[in-house]
Amino acid sequence: MNQAGGRPLIAGNWKMNGLRADGLALAQAIRAGARGLRADLLICPPATLLAPVGEALAGSAIALGGQDCHADRPGAHTGDIAAVMLADLGCRYVILGHCERRAGHGETDEMVRAKAVSALAVGLIAIVCLGETEAQRDRGEALDVVARQLTGSLPENASAANTVVAYEPVWAIGTGRVPSSGDILAVHAHLRRALAGRFKDAAGIRLLYGGSVKPGNAGEILALADVDGALVGGASLKAEDFLAIARAGAEQSWP
Ligand code: PGA
Repeated sequence: MNQAGGRPLIAGNWKMNGLRADGLALAQAIRAGARGLRADLLICPPATLLAPVGEALAGSAIALGGQDCHADRPGAHTGDIAAVMLADLGCRYVILGHCERRAGHGETDEMVRAKAVSALAVGLIAIVCLGETEAQRDRGEALDVVARQLTGSLPENASAANTVVAYEPVWAIGTGRVPSSGDILAVHAHLRRALAGRFKDAAGIRLLYGGSVKPGNAGEILALADVDGALVGGASLKAEDFLAIARAGAEQSWP
């Protein structure tokens, strides 16, 4: 159940998917189906599609976000994108520290925190991702791991207005497996407590769950205490699935 303002945040992470024609069609279909929905929607297309998808969403309430940014200001970083470039394109959010970047690009908590500092400095809302591996969960370390990632990845000036935290167990991403409701509850409560120890407005910092969220499980997950929305990968590539997840979230929102 959403604590942060009565509306869930449902974010679609398209990852490295989408050519112009299908990306545009997907954005248009989501826009058409989202009218009147009581959920905050966000689409994070690949960098190549930020401009056209942004144009397709212009004038709607659906926000645009990047999937990563560099920690530095614009300069000599071949292939990278500065936070201010995302903001300049109309992005309101940027996903940071996704496990595919932590694992595939060696991103550490320290690097994620530096990126978050840059993102906040240009007015973007950082969606900071964290989550344990299967081996860590099996060893009973999940709560310690996520608390450590939270401490290391969030900058000191994080607040409810500029930061979202996404709990994404590595073993649940793209696998069709999800933690039990009890396990999601336990992690989110632990994250909320850890946030409360450090930030004044911790109760308002949105906590998303991500990892194999589908229309069939979204209602149960989004009804959980301290789950303020979802970060959706695979299911965000089909408009009807993404919208069904958003509707499941909207049904949980407070009157
Ligand atoms: P998934 O991905 O929904 O395909 O499991 C979630 C994510 O990586 O954000």
